[in-house]
Amino acid sequence: MQLETKRLILHPFREEDVEVMAQLFANPDFMRFSLGVFTERKQTIAFIEKVIGWDRAGIPSQFAVVPHGEDAIIGYCGFFYHPEHGIEDIEIGYRLDPRYWNRGLITEAARAVRDHGFRDWDLSRVISLIHPENIPSRRVAEKNGMKVEKEITFRGFPTLVYAMTREEWLAKHDAG
Ligand SMILES: CC(C)(COP(=O)(O)OP(=O)(O)OC[C@H]1O[C@@H](n2cnc3c(N)ncnc32)[C@H](O)[C@@H]1OP(=O)(O)O)[C@@H](O)C(=O)NCCC(=O)NCCS
Repeated sequence: MQLETKRLILHPFREEDVEVMAQLFANPDFMRFSLGVFTERKQTIAFIEKVIGWDRAGIPSQFAVVPHGEDAIIGYCGFFYHPEHGIEDIEIGYRLDPRYWNRGLITEAARAVRDHGFRDWDLSRVISLIHPENIPSRRVAEKNGMKVEKEITFRGFPTLVYAMTREEWLAKHDAG
């Protein structure tokens, strides 16, 4: 399934997206607040195979972010799972090519993904896991209607759990 916003197309990942994604994953700005850049192609292949696997399994997944009228993927936005860290909620996660930062593009994508999660997947809750110093990402989560619920340690780093419930989403929606 593909999502569309005013400025973006969000489409499921394909095998042929490895090349463009490998370039993004090698960029330290794209990989800010992560465990580090990908130095090997197999890391990108593993990401692509993981998210295509979720699509094939029929569960919420990641989307490639493509501006209307352009051919290139400029980032990703979609769902992640962290059961191995004892986190049962589904996360909305995103990264964007730094050349496109601060135009409101990921806010636009994250809203579409959030609405997709509540509307099409019937999710009861979504979260975003964000380092306290990651101000742009915190702003995106706030603009997406999420609120800080608690602070945890995630992958060894202090991490804010931003959350939104289905009820909160419905209230926002009903209010227009
Ligand atoms: C987080 C990220 C996806 C945001 O993408 P984006 O398209 O630039 O986001 P938006 O333009 O929709 O919103 C960014 C907001 O942060 C604000 N912002 C950006 N830099 C800021 C700074 N240094 N200080 C204060 N606010 C800042 C912007 O002004 C904007 O808020 P506003 O609309 O209230 O003005 C992008 O910065 C990124 O890819 N970062 C590296 C990867 C990452 O951190 N991913 C998230 C992991 S949790």
